[in-house]
Amino acid sequence: MLEELNAIHQDALKEINGLTDESRLEEFRIRYLGKKGRLTAASAGMKDVPKEEKPAIGQKLNEVRTAITEAIDTRTGQMIAERDARATDGLDVTLPGRPLPAGALHPLTQILSQATGILRRMGFALATGPEIETEWHCFDALNTPADHPARNESDTFYFDNGMLLRTHTSSVQVRTMESQTPPVRIIAPGSAFRRDEIDATHLSAFNQLEGLYVAEHVTLGDLKGTLQTFFRGMFGADTEIRFRPHFFPFTEPSFEIDIKLQATGKEPKWLEMAGCGMVDPAVFEAVSKARGDNAFDPDKVTGFAFGVGLDRLAMVKWGIADIRHLIENDQRFLKQFAG
Ligand code: DAH
Repeated sequence: MLEELNAIHQDALKEINGLTDESRLEEFRIRYLGKKGRLTAASAGMKDVPKEEKPAIGQKLNEVRTAITEAIDTRTGQMIAERDARATDGLDVTLPGRPLPAGALHPLTQILSQATGILRRMGFALATGPEIETEWHCFDALNTPADHPARNESDTFYFDNGMLLRTHTSSVQVRTMESQTPPVRIIAPGSAFRRDEIDATHLSAFNQLEGLYVAEHVTLGDLKGTLQTFFRGMFGADTEIRFRPHFFPFTEPSFEIDIKLQATGKEPKWLEMAGCGMVDPAVFEAVSKARGDNAFDPDKVTGFAFGVGLDRLAMVKWGIADIRHLIENDQRFLKQFAG
């Protein structure tokens, strides 16, 4: 029996080195160590071994089993290593990876978060409204009569059903007052749409930021302080701003706001940045009528509103000469605002 075991041992070790794939190796394992394998068959002969030889033969049996098992493990490891080596054959795994360029925020996104950041720190909450609006929310409730030029077919995108693409974010003032009660202090950034001829300063879709504060005893002083803080936050602490009388249907009195900016090497210039004013009582009346209560009673509450062009803010802040750069996604342009 001892000879038989030695023969099995030698045959196995000889054979295993010639095996080149994993399925042949498995077949080999079954042939030697399986239930009907050679070693298993040989161990059946233990019952005929004289008692005094049993320990020695038993030990030999275990040695051979262990040796074959270890040989199989070693050969499996070699096969996996060979397979991995073949898979990366010709590949230089030490070659550095291709760098992915880091993304960056679009300049308009940067302006938006800077602007909303300043105003939210002053206590304004974010509000939204739909871009497809009713004429009532966009115009009538904002004291803008049917014959106002802004309502003209040539200025505004109308749908067949009478809805329109909002021409300004001021419609969110109305939406907010319909659903909230004073004190109301909101900002509403968003897109607005006009049938404008597209050129260096006009797009048919652009971005505004609307502000509204309604409570008891809101004054023009509050409006001035708020907007001065806002523009100084945007353009620097010593930025001069001026209020120029103007007309908007939904505010009375109304103003345009200019800021004084000096480009390096140039004379300082006043640049128009926003519209604003004290909410016209007619707006409160329209809202009160729609609500059916007197939460916005014009004898009780006052308010201010303002509207800033976000594209314009970006253009002035960075000296961008053409608004179309903001929508063309030319990386050579956008990269200048990264990091
Ligand atoms: N809605 C105006 C526009 O699109 C901007 C504006 C002016 C908004 C005065 C206001 C405001 O809230 O009080 O040109």
